[in-house]
Amino acid sequence: MPKLIIVIASTRPGRVGLPVGEWFAERARAHGGFETEVVDLAQLRLPLMDEPNHPRLRRYTNEHTKAWSAQVGAADAFVLVTPEYNHGFTAPLKNALDYLHHEWQYKPVGFVSYGGIAAGTRAMQMLKPVLVALKMTPVVEAVNVPFVRQFIDDDEQFRPNEVLEQAADAMLDELERVESALRPLRTPVAV
Ligand SMILES: Cc1cc2nc3c(=O)[nH]c(=O)nc-3n(C[C@H](O)[C@H](O)[C@H](O)COP(=O)(O)O)c2cc1C
Repeated sequence: MPKLIIVIASTRPGRVGLPVGEWFAERARAHGGFETEVVDLAQLRLPLMDEPNHPRLRRYTNEHTKAWSAQVGAADAFVLVTPEYNHGFTAPLKNALDYLHHEWQYKPVGFVSYGGIAAGTRAMQMLKPVLVALKMTPVVEAVNVPFVRQFIDDDEQFRPNEVLEQAADAMLDELERVESALRPLRTPVAV
């Protein structure tokens, strides 16, 4: 079964990103198309980029980079759960992306974005050229949550409506299709 990594991109105390990410992970497990793993950037605690070499060279010097490389390299697809900060995505997410190169390539990526009136879509759109530079394939289907606080209950759980649930399933279906189509590009060709 292909492996999906769900990245929680907000790291601040009290973040909404945690319940949103946990909800999506549960939805992905129920979907059943992927083996699912959550990576919480607040727990991963990557320092600000501290490798001396371009990641293209894979000459990693730090244990945290080697571990991140192995984790991302073992995944087949990603979902980035990101808020919108000043009309962009989060700095920890950019940092985590920049650490690696080959490990991201030819893998599909979906988005759960959230924020105010724009539902985090400005952050999502800003992410796409960065991901394409890493040869990732963003899927069009997405979960975009407007005024995210309206979906957080008194126990700090995310309680989405049916529209958001359907959007999640549609995105997971598309990730599954694109993942299998991209797989030959990720398989090293024997010479
Ligand atoms: C530094 C910062 C910048 C923000 N900028 C935006 C913004 O540009 N657009 C928006 O819709 N919401 C913005 N917000 C509000 C966030 O959508 C809201 O606080 C959300 O809960 C942030 O996600 P988090 O709780 O996972 O950190 C901003 C919040 C912070 C902390």
